[in-house]
Amino acid sequence: MSKVGIFGAGWVGLVTGACFAELGHEVVVRDVVAEKVDALREGQVPFHEESVPELLAKNAERLTYTLDVNDVADCEFLFVCVDTPPTYSGDADLSRVWTVVDELPELQGRPILVMKSTVPVGTGEKIRAGLDQRGLDHVGYVSNPEFLAEGRAVRDFMNPDRIAIGAFHADDGDAVAGLYSALDAPVVRSDVNSAEMIKLAANAFLMTRISFINEIANVCEATGADVVKVAEGIGLDHRLGPHFLRAGIGYGGSCFPKDSLALKQLASNSGYHFQLLSAVIEVNELQKRRVIGKLTRHLGPLRGKTVALLGLAFKANTDDMREAPSIVLASRLLAEGANVRAWDPVADGTKLPKGVDIVESVRDAVRDADAAVIVTEWDELRSLASDEVRGLMANPLIVDGRNLLDPEQTRRAGFSYEGIGRPTSPADVFPQTPERAPTSGA
Ligand SMILES: NC(=O)c1ccc[n+]([C@@H]2O[C@H](COP(=O)([O-])OP(=O)(O)OC[C@H]3O[C@@H](n4cnc5c(N)ncnc54)[C@H](O)[C@@H]3O)[C@@H](O)[C@H]2O)c1
Repeated sequence: MSKVGIFGAGWVGLVTGACFAELGHEVVVRDVVAEKVDALREGQVPFHEESVPELLAKNAERLTYTLDVNDVADCEFLFVCVDTPPTYSGDADLSRVWTVVDELPELQGRPILVMKSTVPVGTGEKIRAGLDQRGLDHVGYVSNPEFLAEGRAVRDFMNPDRIAIGAFHADDGDAVAGLYSALDAPVVRSDVNSAEMIKLAANAFLMTRISFINEIANVCEATGADVVKVAEGIGLDHRLGPHFLRAGIGYGGSCFPKDSLALKQLASNSGYHFQLLSAVIEVNELQKRRVIGKLTRHLGPLRGKTVALLGLAFKANTDDMREAPSIVLASRLLAEGANVRAWDPVADGTKLPKGVDIVESVRDAVRDADAAVIVTEWDELRSLASDEVRGLMANPLIVDGRNLLDPEQTRRAGFSYEGIGRPTSPADVFPQTPERAPTSGA
């Protein structure tokens, strides 16, 4: 078993640490935020992610948390799991990665620096050169990008579709592969540049599928087809597969938006205009805003109307609000003059723009509301179309941004219903009261 140091106690760092400890390795997690390290030492996990608290507790004897970089000095592997957010230009901000490299303590033997953070192609080569310049040529470097998805991070880490390992020296790659030997997964070995590109290209492809199905959904709306059926019919084709074909209000989160920008920027810095990816990003931005058109079609001008946003996290089973579509939606609604109420079972609503009323329950959100918008596919919203909710709302309109509900059942329960890419019943768009005259909103 090995001694593994982890830089960054975020989603990737803590999940990596918890899972390596579960696999029997000794793990030291280093972060720079004192409150985080203190909380972890007291057994508290700083974010909502299934199985992480249990795994950290179960393997507590093999896990330590520290602020002091010297505590990782005797580790054989040093995993870089720090955040790489976008800069104003769209490039990845690598300042935290470079801080880790610059702060490396004196290291003996042949420790290996392993890059799990998502970085532009060419980063490994630059870090290799930086290490060599500092006389750290005895420190190996391996790219080992992470593919876990929040909400199912531990499952993904322990049952990966593949493990990508790019190394300058085969022995370093072998050593990193050895850490995962208990997992049953194909290992893709490559050079460092290719491993970095595998991560960016995989994310770009997933986003392309999302924007593709969202555009199909928009055409379905214009032509009377049902995207849920269409996706089923597409997904059964073994050449295509069923995944990432759920139409909705666009992707968000800490990875897709920033990684698509970073890849687009990486291409254009190299003189190539990545046309397809530019369209994928643009489609996603427009998709988030289409909900406004749907609300306007039912309610007319939104000034003074009350809209309940149900679910705020960028997806279910996480409290991550980074780049969540709820933020764009709330801003657009406020700009239209609507009163916005917002509820989520775990996410921090204060990340929304000022002026949004954050409430504690679905009941509080929908009371006297003119519309309820399902923004995140939380399980508890599957029963939204109830008598109680209908009775509480001023106007029983549900805009289902995740196609979570059954349209027919919802209409039978007395609601007007709008999904994404699903046929609209003519009865839905005609208002119950004369002042709610339909408009030709997009
Ligand atoms: N979150 C995901 O679903 C996911 C999935 C795959 C890959 N990634 C990539 O992994 C990386 C980390 O993402 P995340 O979501 O875990 O980020 P995060 O923001 O949740 O965590 C990053 C942590 O690094 C810490 N940190 C910053 N500088 C440090 C330093 N010098 N030393 C030690 N710790 C430091 C921060 O305090 C923070 O706790 C990013 O590059 C991201 O793109 C994320």
